[in-house]
Amino acid sequence: MGMTRGMTHDVLVIGSGAAGLTAALELAEHKKVLVLAKGKLTSGSTAWAQGGIAAVLDAGDTFDNHIRDTMVAGGGLNDRETVEFVIERAPKAIDRLCELGVPFNREEGDLHLTREGGHSHRRIVHVNDATGWAVQAALLKAAEENPNITLLPNQSCVDLVTGRNQKDYSGSGRVWGAYALDEDSGKVVTHLARATVMAAGGAGRVYLFSTAPRGATGDGIAMAWRAGARVSNMEMMQFHPTCLYNLEVKNFLITEAVRGEGGRLFNPVTGERYMEKYDAERMELAPRDIVARANDDQIKRYGLDYVHLDISHQPPEFVKEHFPTIHEKLLGLGIDMTKGPIPVVPAQHYTCGGVKVDLDARTDLPGLWAAGECTESGLHGANRLASNSLLECFVFGEAAAKDILSCWDELDDPPEILPWDESRVTDSDEEVVIKQNWTEIRRFMWNYVGIVRTTKRLERAAHRIRLLRDEVEDYYGHFRVTTDLIELRNLLECANLIVTSALKRQESRGLHFTLDYPETDPIARDTVLVP
Ligand code: FAD
Ligand code: SIN
Repeated sequence: MGMTRGMTHDVLVIGSGAAGLTAALELAEHKKVLVLAKGKLTSGSTAWAQGGIAAVLDAGDTFDNHIRDTMVAGGGLNDRETVEFVIERAPKAIDRLCELGVPFNREEGDLHLTREGGHSHRRIVHVNDATGWAVQAALLKAAEENPNITLLPNQSCVDLVTGRNQKDYSGSGRVWGAYALDEDSGKVVTHLARATVMAAGGAGRVYLFSTAPRGATGDGIAMAWRAGARVSNMEMMQFHPTCLYNLEVKNFLITEAVRGEGGRLFNPVTGERYMEKYDAERMELAPRDIVARANDDQIKRYGLDYVHLDISHQPPEFVKEHFPTIHEKLLGLGIDMTKGPIPVVPAQHYTCGGVKVDLDARTDLPGLWAAGECTESGLHGANRLASNSLLECFVFGEAAAKDILSCWDELDDPPEILPWDESRVTDSDEEVVIKQNWTEIRRFMWNYVGIVRTTKRLERAAHRIRLLRDEVEDYYGHFRVTTDLIELRNLLECANLIVTSALKRQESRGLHFTLDYPETDPIARDTVLVP
């Protein structure tokens, strides 16, 4: 088989969300950057973010407060150095977004700060209730205008190119780019680069109900793991307490800022404002793991389909002004949030674990940096504090770029690489296998690896994964890749990482709550999986 130098770039960035575009913009000051996205350039979670971005901007607030809130929410599993690193860089990150033209809400010239669960102060900058869309648009505009950045949508990366793919075989895990399926032509293209930044987002779609977009299938985590990078704290899957319950619209988030601005939770049958029983002090503004468990408990205990979130005691103009997007969306579904409650359920929302990175966004693999939701940087610990995620994307996207630029001269040009081999595969004649397995994984993850866990349920999930493994690998080995197949393989890989990690953690901490080990160990330890 002939060798290839593929398409060679200075830097390859996988992902066009907040993390990927932040890295690309910084890198493009000096280097040529190719950004790949699966589907549209706006297909990641970034465009869906509602509440906002946390930053200490109020005179009455301090970095220490934000650090403490982050560590309390994170169940002490956070890495303090990382928490400080991110939080101290937040005001500058907001300044940069303002320079890029993000139209944050203001009050008499100052940025308006809203509040969310787990925050002791108002510190969330936002663009109404659709912050992510505005941020994504501003980053994309800047990237599109930058002559050093090439944006390529509809590219599903299949795997990283590593030393194993070299002509002169190298067992080293050095990463030289990625193989990507061009969704339009159906061909797999080899993209080589001196440096690669993984910014492919979370794995939320491994669960049946998730607020995350369709493409959040953990591709980045699975690719890095297969290439040899360690992955940590994958059991820490965050469930958002308030996803809209609606038979037609399955994954519409009702932002935590609704509770931040006074929204209350009620049992629709008893009428009780039940948060008093679960966290009398912080009530609806307790950290997310506590409120999600409370909602889950009420739903299970009373056999409910949903609980009620009610902000109709606030003046209608206040509600419409703060939540124009949600208000309009709900009106279209026959719900007027200015007059009555919103039916809500918990749903998977955020992947706290991921590829292990240091403060320079370096992974274990030379040539591979990673940023954003696909990583575990030490910021979130056992439970992410609301609105700390976009912030992490900006800080680590920039850190990756700075580190790549600073060590540029030590990075070699890519060697000759084996091209993608399709000689032994055919087109699948049974797409139904993929659909069946997708649904099966998402169902057993929801039922066995959800908000409240037991060892028995986790073992059942592990058993299902073992059974599916052979089938999926066999399918992958025989048929031409499609995006659905790539995603199925990655979903299964991530399900395995989550269940393996959950079985290893024999305590309850933050988002990992198991009836078999309800106590919290005195010492917080990461669950680190080594390939
Ligand atoms: P994403 O924005 O998810 O981008 C991932 C990118 O990778 C996409 O471009 C995708 O196409 C690409 N990609 C994926 N797989 C492949 C592949 N195989 N090949 C090529 N490209 C690939 N956080 C906050 O801080 N504040 C909020 O208010 C907030 N609200 C949220 C609301 C919702 C509904 C959701 C779902 C999340 C919210 N979050 C919020 C979390 C936050 O939006 C995400 O954690 C963050 O946007 C992740 O950014 P990212 O750049 O890491 O990944
Ligand atoms: C929300 O708006 O409730 C989501 C905020 C977040 O995920 O940080």
